[in-house]
Amino acid sequence: MVKEKVNENVNENVKEKIIEVNGKSNGKVSKKSNGKANEKVIVTAALPYANGNIHIGHLLEYVQADVYTRFLKSIGKDALFVCASDMHGTPIEMNAKKAGIEPKKFAAKFMKEHQEDFASYLIEFDNYYHTDSKENKELVEFIYSELKKKDLIYTKKMNVIYCKSCQRSLPDRFVKGTCPHCTTADQYGDICESCGITLKGTDLVNPKCSLCGESPTQKESEHYFFKLKSFSKSLEKWFNTKESLVQPEMKNWLNNWIKNGLDDWCISRDEPYYGFEIPDSKKETGEKKYFYVWLDAPIGYISSTKNLVGNKWKDYWHHGHIQHFIGKDIAYFHFLFWPAVLMAVDIPLPKLTVHGWVTVNGKKMSKSRGTFFTAKDFLQDYSAESLRFYYMHGLDKKIVDLDLNLDDFKAVTNNVLMGNLGNFCYRTLTFAEKNYGKIDDIADGKEEKALVKKIEKLFFDIEKSYLKQDFKAVIKNILIISDFGNAYFQKSEVWKDKDSSVSKAAVGFCLNLARNLSILISPVLPEFSEKVWKSLSLKKLIWKDLGFTWKGKLKKVEKLVEKIEAAKEGESAGAAKSSGTVESSGAAKTVEKFPLQMVVGQIKEVENHPNADSLYLMKVDFGKKIGFKQVVAGLKKWFKITGLISKKAVFCVNMKPAKLRGELSEAMIFAADDHENVSLLHVKKTKIGNAVNFSGLENSEKEVTFDDFLKIKMLVKNDNIYFGDKKLSSKIEDIVVAGVKEGSRVH
Ligand code: 2FM
Ligand code: ZN
Repeated sequence: MVKEKVNENVNENVKEKIIEVNGKSNGKVSKKSNGKANEKVIVTAALPYANGNIHIGHLLEYVQADVYTRFLKSIGKDALFVCASDMHGTPIEMNAKKAGIEPKKFAAKFMKEHQEDFASYLIEFDNYYHTDSKENKELVEFIYSELKKKDLIYTKKMNVIYCKSCQRSLPDRFVKGTCPHCTTADQYGDICESCGITLKGTDLVNPKCSLCGESPTQKESEHYFFKLKSFSKSLEKWFNTKESLVQPEMKNWLNNWIKNGLDDWCISRDEPYYGFEIPDSKKETGEKKYFYVWLDAPIGYISSTKNLVGNKWKDYWHHGHIQHFIGKDIAYFHFLFWPAVLMAVDIPLPKLTVHGWVTVNGKKMSKSRGTFFTAKDFLQDYSAESLRFYYMHGLDKKIVDLDLNLDDFKAVTNNVLMGNLGNFCYRTLTFAEKNYGKIDDIADGKEEKALVKKIEKLFFDIEKSYLKQDFKAVIKNILIISDFGNAYFQKSEVWKDKDSSVSKAAVGFCLNLARNLSILISPVLPEFSEKVWKSLSLKKLIWKDLGFTWKGKLKKVEKLVEKIEAAKEGESAGAAKSSGTVESSGAAKTVEKFPLQMVVGQIKEVENHPNADSLYLMKVDFGKKIGFKQVVAGLKKWFKITGLISKKAVFCVNMKPAKLRGELSEAMIFAADDHENVSLLHVKKTKIGNAVNFSGLENSEKEVTFDDFLKIKMLVKNDNIYFGDKKLSSKIEDIVVAGVKEGSRVH
């Protein structure tokens, strides 16, 4: 548990902004911010189920919340970032049973793993607790008793889904069927991922037990309900307040939900269930009932606070401000159920920020495409700060997906983070340490004064953007400052006359710039900033330390940014390794030959074939060893020229060169085709010129004819390419196709 010391001195305009941002966040919030620097703020990210690995998709939200909290702390807020493991519910109960251990132990193992993962991405919680705690039980029971007192709870007999073959009632999540609202098939019984509506398993059309596939039956059971419906008006008012802080896209969703009418909310579950037993349920219904995990999970936000600060939790929850970060999948729970419960117990309402999904290379993360990275996998190849930077570089408050395009990620890390920000700070610090060791003068001429003016305006903009959680704008403006720094350093040519007082003062100015940059970027890159501070012989700096007056001693600076090396592509990379298709190059193994030499090439130029309507002429780069080749390809019907340029794909390069309609073709491009759709063989990470092969088969380099080529049958299975039972991959990734039917042939 890390509790940071918070500085009391906050600059005035920041105070005002915080009031503006937080003071109006609650529909019914009575207590306006007192504007004090040490204003209390609770920041949360969704409590992850203790039931699986943290992956890079999860990390976006935790980084977002961490950056925001670190910023609030930097401007002097008494901000606490609390989180917890969400331990209850059926999936955990069932998985623990499968693993043959107690749910508590099962969940504890994941809790520990999650904490390690978060720490490795520099996500610094003030408290990380769990929902199966004493504090949570007490709070859940207290809140429940309040709801009961206020006549907001009733019981009702209802039909639950019961699977005879599994001998248990099935939670909504364990039934699949067609959404009654939008008719999308294959939806879980709790929420339709297509239209976003929450469901009950019994609502589904044509339901199936997802454990055994049987059609379940229904059984009567008495359950507890919370009168959610009676909150429709107040909820509507809350998120439609004039200065509502709800993201506009969200507001539309919410108003639609309200328009469609809210149902009262069933907050109980039948046995077997891992959760808190509902007091008196046996007496009242004849059976033990448990609180539904979604009742006790958000209360976990409070109990984690209570676990950290004891009874002072009220100072935060009743008199401070609450900021939840969530993904759009759990918006319904957080914008309807949770605020209604809070209203019922007179706790002011939170502010919520919703984010979209993380995609990798433009698509949902997928194991078969080699784009599913657990938090651990990813760190094998990349640094935590490069991911933090990349995410914040792309994240504003729009609820859109954020694509982690691996080429772009490399470019942002190497060219922007390292090439701009890192380069300026590293170069300045290294130069100063090597040549002077100590700085006692700061250039302060006309040029510097003008720059300072511009930069101070940017400080203000950056502050505002952090407060608005527009991290994309934060990074953009920080980079403008480091651009100024790089240009200034370059123009000063301090290396030409190192020892002159002019050069020294210019470096002094640059060091102050670097120092300011380290403060501005510290919420995003805490380690980077710490290294800068260490080099300037300083301890932790915060917002109020911004300025241009630093003089002092220098220490050797550590490497600030981990470059993503091109060589990495040739090595085995985290996610690709797990595919299991990479063959060991065991010494004494005889390897069978595959007749085609398959190599990754990049299409550099495409033009229409002069003599054939359906053909393109392409110039393809195969790297240093093979060079460029001309390829004639019948792709015109399927691809526009712009859709091919710069694409990496798999080619056969040992074909006997042949003239096709008068133009020489020196290689063949592979494509999978089901007569309606055509897909090239996609290559994400493998370098140009590298081989791809079927597992266990070595490529032959002997020339083949077109007829030889036609005899080889390669088929699409699960978006992968197979020759018999051997899968096609490079050393670091499986080769995949997209949008073609299972069983399509590769030509
Ligand atoms: O969707 C999830 O992963 C939930 N465990 C999130 C809970 S957030 C909060 F309400 F506890
Ligand atoms: Zn079943």
